Amino acid sequence: MLRIRNLDAGYGKLRVLKNISLHVKAGEIVTMIGANGAGKTTLLHTVVGLVRPMRGDIVFLGRSNGRSSVAKIVASGCALVPEGRQVFAPMSVEENLLLGGHVLQKERGRAAVLKELEHQYELFPILRERRRQLAGTLSGGEQQMLAMGRALMSGPKLVMMDEPSTGLAPLIVRDIFQIIRRLREEGNTVLLIEQNARAALGIADRGYVLEVGKVILQGPAADLLANADVQRAYLGREKIG
Ligand SMILES: Nc1ncnc2c1ncn2[C@@H]1O[C@H](COP(=O)(O)OP(=O)(O)O)[C@@H](O)[C@H]1O
Ligand SMILES: [Mg+2]
Repeated sequence: MLRIRNLDAGYGKLRVLKNISLHVKAGEIVTMIGANGAGKTTLLHTVVGLVRPMRGDIVFLGRSNGRSSVAKIVASGCALVPEGRQVFAPMSVEENLLLGGHVLQKERGRAAVLKELEHQYELFPILRERRRQLAGTLSGGEQQMLAMGRALMSGPKLVMMDEPSTGLAPLIVRDIFQIIRRLREEGNTVLLIEQNARAALGIADRGYVLEVGKVILQGPAADLLANADVQRAYLGREKIG
């Protein structure tokens, strides 16, 4: 579904990503874990066209993303749930969701949007309860669900999530990860970026470890969980030995 080959990307002369290669197959949950500043957000922004590649290529569903606009890439089925949720605070929950459906509206009309809205309310019942509430007054966990629902409104083939668990209480994190699992059961494909390595590797099929812009390890999630270097660097000491 997504194949990235020998990608370099960054800002001005600053090369943040160095020779990144990775792929995501249809139906997989793939996670990329890495510390703060490793380049995780830069990677997602490059895939979705917000940052231009300096070298290498990004092929999504057989088409190169390299020179496409963000709007075209999103319309082709690649959705981003951004870091820090970024919901539109002064708008209601439902207005936020409908905004996420504007590509769908253009292509398939209002009925398709309303059907998709209903689907999001089934996935996130709390959003239905809060549908008239202003997004800015939701809790962190509810805002994360809204950001996910908004991205899913476009009916994407690939959902990329940038640190969905950051700043949330453990019980809410568990809910969020359960929803990601359910998304996969419904046939979605997920590229999940996380600092919470244990939780991410716990639900992923495969994973990549990013350190200062380079992929230093990759493999089945279970292998990474069992890897001594990953345990030492990302999973805390309690699991060693
Ligand atoms: N808009 C930007 N302009 C310049 N440098 C940036 C910009 N965004 C991020 N960076 C730098 O790129 C590096 C990687 O950042 P980022 O991709 O946000 O990492 P992560 O998401 O893994 O925390 C950091 O050194 C950061 O300072
Ligand atoms: Mg980030």
